[in-house]
Amino acid sequence: MKIVVTGALGHIGSRLIRELPSMFHGAKIFMVDNLATQRYPSLFNLPAHGNYRFIEADVLEHDIEAVMDGATVVVHLAAITDAANSFNNREKVEYVNYNATARVAEACGKTGCAMIHLSSTSVYGTQAAVVDENCTEDELKPQSPYAETKLKEERLLKELGTSKGGRFVSCRFGTITGISAGMRFHTAVNKFCWQAVFGQPLTVWTTALHQKRPYLDLGDAVQAIKFIIENELYDGNVYNILTENLTVNDIINYIKKSVPAIEIKYVDTQIMNQLSYDVSNKRFADKGFSPKIALSRSIGETISLLRSANTR
Ligand SMILES: NC(=O)c1ccc[n+]([C@@H]2O[C@H](COP(=O)([O-])OP(=O)(O)OC[C@H]3O[C@@H](n4cnc5c(N)ncnc54)[C@H](O)[C@@H]3O)[C@@H](O)[C@H]2O)c1
Repeated sequence: MKIVVTGALGHIGSRLIRELPSMFHGAKIFMVDNLATQRYPSLFNLPAHGNYRFIEADVLEHDIEAVMDGATVVVHLAAITDAANSFNNREKVEYVNYNATARVAEACGKTGCAMIHLSSTSVYGTQAAVVDENCTEDELKPQSPYAETKLKEERLLKELGTSKGGRFVSCRFGTITGISAGMRFHTAVNKFCWQAVFGQPLTVWTTALHQKRPYLDLGDAVQAIKFIIENELYDGNVYNILTENLTVNDIINYIKKSVPAIEIKYVDTQIMNQLSYDVSNKRFADKGFSPKIALSRSIGETISLLRSANTR
């Protein structure tokens, strides 16, 4: 089997590429990344039993069709991912993320390769207590230019799936928790762990303390990708994939188990809203997938990783 991973050196990709050789024995793993985020260490010490090939290339420019020739599936992770900052570089995020997905989808159409597309649960914004993939249009309220683009990408894939018979799936991942070789710290849980360990106040969005949002452990995320590949779940659907819905207060309480003295500083951001809701993962659960890892564990692991950098 040949598996292509775009954005392979990023937070999710760097963990996925380490686990693929054990999950799919003998698989040829083609990793594409333009190093825009300089995650060179993601390539350090890959498992010796892996059959890897790294291609330093931009998905927008490279002959991606040639890379995907003969591949069973592409896991498309390449994107500009700092959602809160996407208000400051809206055009670039829209251009890069939308066109990267369009190019990969087009190459899938030509090569017959299936596509796992990464979307985000940040496409939702609802007054309801629980939201799922069957929600009404007015419950889709992308919270940033980044999330708006995810929704546009999903719609493009739906269109291509319908008109050209493409085999794909869009995964609306919750915010990732947990550690990887190419970890980033833009997102809520990772940022809070970092701030707590280094004695900085936790910068919580003014409205967010008691709002529920979906989170996904990185180990569960990798297992979800394995599950999709094993079951060839390329049915053109959108799936919410998450471990648990939590409030920021819940997360802070988990962090306090390792770092008891925590200060909170409330900050305003364009991304916040007044809404609190659970995102349902029932559609994916009904296919047979269940998340296994408690978020308290991934939060503990993140703190342990940093702990010895500040031994106050
Ligand atoms: N991490 C999360 O919390 C989360 C949650 C939901 C969805 N997602 C989605 O999952 C995917 C992966 O996220 P991540 O956290 O690993 O992101 P990341 O920013 O850590 O990694 C993205 C990688 O893509 C590469 N890249 C960017 N543009 C590229 C291009 N044009 N060509 C080639 N490589 C390019 C970057 O260099 C980086 O290594 C993204 O689509 C993201 O939107 C992530």
